[in-house]
Amino acid sequence: MRLVIATVVLCPLLAAPAAAQWPPEKFENLQVLSDSIPLRELVDLMAGFTRALGVRCTYCHVGEEGRPLGTYDFPSDDKLTKRKAREMLEMVTAINARYLPRLEERQDPPVAVQCVTCHGGITTPRTLQDVLLLADRAGGLDSLLATYRALRERYYGRAAYDFGEVPLADVAGTLRADGRLADAVRLYGLNVEQNPAARFPKLQYAQAAVELAFVESGPTAGIARYRELQTQHGAGVFPEPSLNQLGYALLGRGKTAEAIEVFKLTVNAFPRSANAYDSLGEAYAAAGDSARAIASYEQSLVLDPQNANAQEKLQALRARR
Ligand code: HEC
Ligand code: HEC
Repeated sequence: MRLVIATVVLCPLLAAPAAAQWPPEKFENLQVLSDSIPLRELVDLMAGFTRALGVRCTYCHVGEEGRPLGTYDFPSDDKLTKRKAREMLEMVTAINARYLPRLEERQDPPVAVQCVTCHGGITTPRTLQDVLLLADRAGGLDSLLATYRALRERYYGRAAYDFGEVPLADVAGTLRADGRLADAVRLYGLNVEQNPAARFPKLQYAQAAVELAFVESGPTAGIARYRELQTQHGAGVFPEPSLNQLGYALLGRGKTAEAIEVFKLTVNAFPRSANAYDSLGEAYAAAGDSARAIASYEQSLVLDPQNANAQEKLQALRARR
């Protein structure tokens, strides 16, 4: 009995210095919310903050995790995060009160912006693309891959990040455009692995992997890689536009012999395509092989007599002979 009394008496002394108590009798430092907001409403709002950002009260408030709320100093503005959250609160209030009502027609019922609309369960609402490119900038591809796996492990199935096929495709595309084809191929490969049911990642992977083989190891290796991927994923993994792009990418790199091989694969796979023969003609012309260029353009015209480009190119080639 004595022990119980002692606890009751001691507890207030152990508590935080100020007149902190839970629930508070009144609010002391509300600058955006109304002072007359009912406690229940304020607590619901705060609980909404924690879920929207994936944090606890202590992320913004001075207090110790696991201790009673009565020991927290909720009015204090010591934490930067609380001050930022207040700006956010004003921003969201402005969006909902000023901007959205200006729309000519609102949804019925109208949609309000909430913290979760942007934050989706994380404190820094960056897209997965941006997070991965930042990791790459800080520590290269290994760091990017480790970040992807860690985030997927933690957030898969939640709103925070999009683990569908688009972000990895975007990031791989950025690396490819930066001239990092081998790194891009690894990411395209990861995209196939992570999204096995999706078709698009397979096409992108196949195209980039064949380009890499042609660029790094030459025509024989490129053709071998093409056949290997065809066997693995089916012929549909190389649609005509994909091969056409690949051929032009190689032409653009000055890899004329390699481009010719790709366009030969293309006419083989799409023998009815006037465009494929037209491209092959262009590659032969770039290699200075006028005879084969002429034959290819002629075949293109057989398949499509309206092909004005082939007509023009043929005239020029014949005039030069
Ligand atoms: C993302 C930051 C953030 C989180 C997380 C958060 N709060 Fe707050 N809280 C604020 C901000 C900002 C204010 C001040 C609002 C204003 O100025 O109108 C506030 C004010 C309060 C107040 C009023 C304090 C006073 O007297 O002025 C209480 C009580 C409170 N929060 C409780 C909580 C509780 C309980 C939790 C956890 C369930 C929590 N908060 C989580 C940002 C946060
Ligand atoms: C329109 C989108 C949007 C909404 C809605 C939004 N935020 Fe933010 N929030 C951001 C962005 C973007 C940042 C990062 C800003 C920066 O530092 O570049 C941010 C940052 C923050 C931070 C700082 C995190 C840090 O890195 O320190 C806090 C805290 C925060 N928001 C709380 C909130 C709360 C609470 C709400 C709801 C009242 C909210 N936000 C609503 C977009 C939003």
